[in-house]
Amino acid sequence: MKKSSAPAPVTVRTLQAMKQAGQKIVALTAYDAPMARLLNRCGVDVILVGDSVANVKLGYPNTIPVTLDEMIHHTRAVRRGNTRSLLVADMPFLTYEYDPKEAVRHVGRLIKEGGAAAVKVEGPALDAIKALVSAHIPVMGHLGLTPQSVHQLGGYRVQGRTRRSAAQLSQDARRLERAGVFALVLEAVPGPLARRVTRSLKIPTIGIGAGVHTDGQILVLDDLLGFSDEPTPRFVKPYAHLWSAAARAVGRFCGDVRARRFPGPDQTYS
Ligand code: KIV
Repeated sequence: MKKSSAPAPVTVRTLQAMKQAGQKIVALTAYDAPMARLLNRCGVDVILVGDSVANVKLGYPNTIPVTLDEMIHHTRAVRRGNTRSLLVADMPFLTYEYDPKEAVRHVGRLIKEGGAAAVKVEGPALDAIKALVSAHIPVMGHLGLTPQSVHQLGGYRVQGRTRRSAAQLSQDARRLERAGVFALVLEAVPGPLARRVTRSLKIPTIGIGAGVHTDGQILVLDDLLGFSDEPTPRFVKPYAHLWSAAARAVGRFCGDVRARRFPGPDQTYS
C-alpha cells in the first residue's frame, strides 16, 4: 500500500500522547475556512471555534449573546477549511449548564451540523459533562477566567489568586478530569497555580494567560495577528500588526480611487 505523506489528523488521543511525551500542544481559535487552512498549513494541533467569535467577529460586547446557530455557522466554515487539526467548538452560554439532556441535544447539533470533533464547556458543569461523555462526545473543560461568567466574576480578572479560590480551582480541575474531560483550558490564572494543576492531572492543560508550564498554549488568532483596534489582555503577545497594515492598505486604495490612479492600465480590460 502507498504511504500517504500527509500528516495524521490530530485526535484527543494525540493530545494525551503529547502530554506523556512532554511535547507542547499548540492551539488557536479560528472562525472561518481560510484561517483554518492557514492554521493547518502551519501545523497547529487544535483549532477552537471559540465563542469569542461573538466579540471578535460578530460585534457583540462579550461572549454571552452568541447563539447555537451562530456557533454552528462558524464551525461549519472552519470544518470546510480544516483537514488536520482537532476541531473543537465552544458551547454558548446557557446551552448546556442546567439540563444534561438539552446539553446532549445542543452539542449533537454542533457535532452533526457543524462538524466539530469535540466541544468545550466553561466551568464545573459536571452533570452536563458526564452526560456528554457517556454519549461518546469528547469534552474539553475550561476553568479560571470563564468569560461567560463575566457578570458574576465582576469583570475579566485573574482567578485563583487567593488560597481559597486556588484550592477550589484545583479541586474543580480534578473533578472535571474524573468526569471525563480530555483536556482543560486554564485561563488567566497565576503561573504557579497552573503548574500545580498541570502536574496533578493526567489530561493535558492548555493555558491562556496561565504561564509557561501548562501542556499547551492557546490564543485568540486575531490577538496573535494584531488584527484588532481594541486593547488586548496582558497575556497576549502580538506576532504581527495586521490591523495597521490593513488600515494602511485601505487608506492607499481610498487615495488612489480619489486621485484616479486606480484602476490603472494593468487592471483595465482593453
Ligand atoms: O472563546 C475563546 O476564544 C476561548 C479561549 C480559550 C481562547 O474560549
